[in-house]
Amino acid sequence: MKQEGALFVGSGPGGPQWLRLDRANRHGLIAGATGTGKTVTLQGLAEGFSAAGVPVFLADVKGDLAGLAMPATPNAPYYEKLTARAAEIGMADYAPAEAPAIFWDLFGEQGHPIRTTVTEMGPLLLARLMGLNETQEGVLNIAFRAADDEGMLLLNLDDLQAMLTFCADHADALSATYGNVARATVGAIQRQLLALDAQGGGSFFGEPALQIADFMRVDEQGRGQVSILAADKLMASPRLYATFLLWLLSELFEDLPEVGDSDKPKLVFFFDEAHLLFDDAPKALLEKIEQVVRLIRSKGVGVYFVTQNPIDIPDDVAAQLGNRIQHALRAFTPRDQKAVAAAAETFRPNPSVDVASAITELRTGEALVSLLQEDGSPSPVERTLIRPPASRLGPLEPKERAIIRSLSPVGTLYDEAVDRESAYEMLKTRGEQAVAEAARIKAEKNAEKARIAQEKAEAAAERERRRNPSLQDQMLNQVGRAVQRQVANKVAGQIVRGILGSLFGRR
Ligand SMILES: Nc1ncnc2c1ncn2[C@@H]1O[C@H](COP(=O)(O)OP(=O)(O)OP(=O)(O)O)[C@@H](O)[C@H]1O
Ligand SMILES: [Mg+2]
Repeated sequence: MKQEGALFVGSGPGGPQWLRLDRANRHGLIAGATGTGKTVTLQGLAEGFSAAGVPVFLADVKGDLAGLAMPATPNAPYYEKLTARAAEIGMADYAPAEAPAIFWDLFGEQGHPIRTTVTEMGPLLLARLMGLNETQEGVLNIAFRAADDEGMLLLNLDDLQAMLTFCADHADALSATYGNVARATVGAIQRQLLALDAQGGGSFFGEPALQIADFMRVDEQGRGQVSILAADKLMASPRLYATFLLWLLSELFEDLPEVGDSDKPKLVFFFDEAHLLFDDAPKALLEKIEQVVRLIRSKGVGVYFVTQNPIDIPDDVAAQLGNRIQHALRAFTPRDQKAVAAAAETFRPNPSVDVASAITELRTGEALVSLLQEDGSPSPVERTLIRPPASRLGPLEPKERAIIRSLSPVGTLYDEAVDRESAYEMLKTRGEQAVAEAARIKAEKNAEKARIAQEKAEAAAERERRRNPSLQDQMLNQVGRAVQRQVANKVAGQIVRGILGSLFGRR
């Protein structure tokens, strides 16, 4: 199913539904109860954008979106469902295909590490990340200003920790210049910082910092690269997850030029488990989110929120989500019923669709769909069977991931952290007493890191030992074709064999 300048979303009694690329930066919403088809819908949309040359960023919360990187496997149990759906909606050109994927991981385990500096993150988001109260946030602000005035760079958490110790040691002098700096408050912030570090937040701060251009790549066949953030482990720290994605949005907003209206977006950003962004966020932050979402569309970025319950999205933000795909909702509890009523209200009515009753009856992979039309108004709501993805449903094998990673167009740029001269090192050469303390904290942390790394290495070795070697051969066969296709135009088969040889050869 093809139409110039639009993505095929699905089809129903109202005919095929098309998402216009020139309205795709007017944002969107994918909502529905658990198991109703949100992730599969997202997967199909991501494929569509990629095929249209639009880069995509998405967070893979359950690991099941990584399958985008591989074609659907005809002998897999889910395949029949996909082909049945394709037939039902008259998608005659349905065939397995992968999307070009780049894997990312805040922790650097399942993809390229993503880093930013403490300064870039800024005090507002950091305060949220550490769960600071207003007084603490005020002192954190002072630490940032003092670092700036002292000409000290805040790159990683060591820098911030050293700077905070410096603030405590010079509390009186700093209070006179910037306002009250209580030592106890500094101590409380430092403890939160340690907790953040213990959650793995430390690896996110430092250099080389992410270049946004790496999220906006197009491959040699003109397909938009799909950046897949491994978020399964990240979801254990919901606040880190939400703050990170918000930081990313604001980076995009700050770095990208105005483009006004264009024929297609520069990037589409899918925000899964979107309710986490808003859960107990302070008012100042909510305002910032609302503002970024409102303004970022003129930079050519479309933001799609994915959530179980549409009422989790604040009204000011929800009002800006023009393209809507609402999967089934349950109507058990009063809160559910409220969600059903709210969802029904937001659609442009269609006399032939009773939204409130349809919404609880929709099948899996079926949704109420309303998309922005050429004049910018929403289309009347239609019951729609969503198109099946052409890529695999479900996760990748570690070896498949390893192969895709080894082919990443980003290369090795981000692989190693670089620690250049910054606040921690500067205070150290000054011989500040602060630094003795910071050095002690660092040594403690390193010992802890070494212990965790040791444990992980042992566990990994154990898993490897238990692996059935013939399974490995099967996997090699399975991934072989997909990878060869990915590199077909660029790389000779010999190199493919070389890559597979080095990954699988020495065992
Ligand atoms: N468009 C579709 N075509 C065919 N099958 C589908 C479609 N959408 C969903 N399914 C089937 O329904 C299953 C559940 O869908 P999915 O994982 O997308 O649900 P979900 O809403 O993301 O659930 P959760 O909230 O638990 O993450 C899929 O594994 C697939 O088998
Ligand atoms: Mg899902």
